Amino acid sequence: MCGIVGYVGRSEAAPILLDGLRRLEYRGYDSAGIAIVNGDRIETRKCAGRIANLGSLMAENPPAGHFGISHTRWATHGKPTDQNAHPHFDATGKLALVHNGVIENYQALKDQLIRDGDKNFSSDTDTEVLAHLIGKLYEDSATTDTRPDGSAPANGGAPSYSKKARLVDAVRAALRQVIGTYGIALVHRDIPDFIVGARRGSPLVLGVGKNENFLASDVSAIVAHTRDAVYLNDFDVVAVERDRFEISSVAGEAGSYELRKVEFGDTDIKKGDYPHFMLKEIFEQSGSVRDALRGRLSHEECTAKLGGLNMSAAQLRDVGRVVLTGCGTALHAAMVGEYLIEALAQIPTEVEYASEFRHRNSPMTRDTLVFAISQSGETADTLGALRESKRKGYRTLGICNNVASTIARESDGGVYMHAGPEIGVAATKSFTSQVTILTAIGLLLGRMRHLSPAQGTGIIETLEALPGQIDQVLKLSDQTKAIAKKYASVNGMLFFGRQFNFPVALEAALKMKEITYLFAEGHPSAELKHGIIALVRSDLPSVFIAPDDAVFSKNVNNIEQVRARKGPVIAVTSGEGVGKLKKIADDVIEIPVAPECVTPILSVIPLQLLAYHLAVELGLDVDKPRNLAKSVTVE
Ligand code: G6P
Repeated sequence: MCGIVGYVGRSEAAPILLDGLRRLEYRGYDSAGIAIVNGDRIETRKCAGRIANLGSLMAENPPAGHFGISHTRWATHGKPTDQNAHPHFDATGKLALVHNGVIENYQALKDQLIRDGDKNFSSDTDTEVLAHLIGKLYEDSATTDTRPDGSAPANGGAPSYSKKARLVDAVRAALRQVIGTYGIALVHRDIPDFIVGARRGSPLVLGVGKNENFLASDVSAIVAHTRDAVYLNDFDVVAVERDRFEISSVAGEAGSYELRKVEFGDTDIKKGDYPHFMLKEIFEQSGSVRDALRGRLSHEECTAKLGGLNMSAAQLRDVGRVVLTGCGTALHAAMVGEYLIEALAQIPTEVEYASEFRHRNSPMTRDTLVFAISQSGETADTLGALRESKRKGYRTLGICNNVASTIARESDGGVYMHAGPEIGVAATKSFTSQVTILTAIGLLLGRMRHLSPAQGTGIIETLEALPGQIDQVLKLSDQTKAIAKKYASVNGMLFFGRQFNFPVALEAALKMKEITYLFAEGHPSAELKHGIIALVRSDLPSVFIAPDDAVFSKNVNNIEQVRARKGPVIAVTSGEGVGKLKKIADDVIEIPVAPECVTPILSVIPLQLLAYHLAVELGLDVDKPRNLAKSVTVE
């Protein structure tokens, strides 16, 4: 949800900033811009559209300079036009700012600035208001020799109250007036080799290099240059120079920090031989599931070992209720988790849309354990749900992929997915990793209760067999491609599943919507007859996820109901189901036989592939679908 990159060093800033933006394009891609300070002027290039457009603009007229800021946008306030693209400037045109987040009280701030005589607004954005406010506070402090909050600087306004300190003070004073969220980076024409960054609610990382430093929304933008990172906290303000940086708080207190090593390198964030990140990430799933389990299964104790939960055996045994919350794909993984935890541990489990949960007063028992599930660890609604649960005193754990993300840091403990960077906007490997981890959690909680050692061993063996089975499923890519070609002209698709595979129907429909823009819906198979059947017709295929399990024959009944109304049927099945469904379905996709509880991990993959191949067939931009952003840091 908007990506920002800043650079200060000895190299030309333009290629570093542009490359960083390309790595962050998953965060938003409706417009992009760059501002580089070159001597006494700021060179700005910005335009609507993809970063490739900005790249062309920069190639025509390359900006020079060794420090600057850049931005890729996902519009919140104001249409994606050249004018609304970041960076935005203050009234003097000397200060340039990029911003990820939402300034909720921007109108009130703007009205005040206008009352004070500022008429120089040129965009519809909330960001421009913040640039003007910081600029005004900076300029005012120069004329009055007081700090922007009105107090005298420590040295009484002597010349050593430098421009740098004044700018940082102005940023702090402005941010104290802001209601909303921000990750920002700004430069001032008159202050060489100096960038100020700050965050609240939107991520910001400082990359520490040798004679150069970086700011970015996400480490993937800077990992080609340095693997030393400081993940900033909310209300941190950072002043960055080539060879030093200083972290303080919006309130003006000195800050502390921890330098961390980034786990992955530059090659992990490249497509390699794959045409799209999404396909690469689908094909990574045997490895990512293996990594989600690495070191976490104990044959000796017939259970899972999840030390990151930071809970004693007694605390785990006392869990009386589980709430799983998240958004999008993570929510669908949570829905599989509900079936898993109830089946394996028999603990009442509920799934809550994070966006709803955070705003409602859901009755909770004292012994409720809350899991916030999020690939990015930055989704605003999931973070809001986590904070609300924590505020009420519930133990709240995270299941995140991004190490040191806000949700990972603010939760009481959790389980990292270790899936590696997921760059395709449509989530794939994160779903299977989340479900894998939820299975391990079900196993752990179950083994604190009624699951016998033999049952525990059975689940461990099932989990250990998964990577090999996923490799088998990936061989279905060509078959799903052929099916995609066959149905390339349809206007929509329905998805049905029962029990563990009902959430897979939702997830498969979400994939289809996200990247093919086709109308797609997922439902429990049995709901067909309660309304959806009215939609069935010969040009609307129904996909049934019907492995050979306890509800197979029920699914067959529903398939027959669709067939009787001339609806085409694509079936995902296993074992004896294959022969049976070949007689009634138009297309049958065979997945390996596995215990019910892990079939979602196997059944979702051919449907990820189906959506992928259909989108490619339709000539769509698979990795950057329209209107979407991978990490949604606004509400
Ligand atoms: C956005 C993305 C989805 C993703 C959801 C939750 O809507 O487009 O693909 O599932 O956010 O993301 P998270 O990072 O919290 O898992």
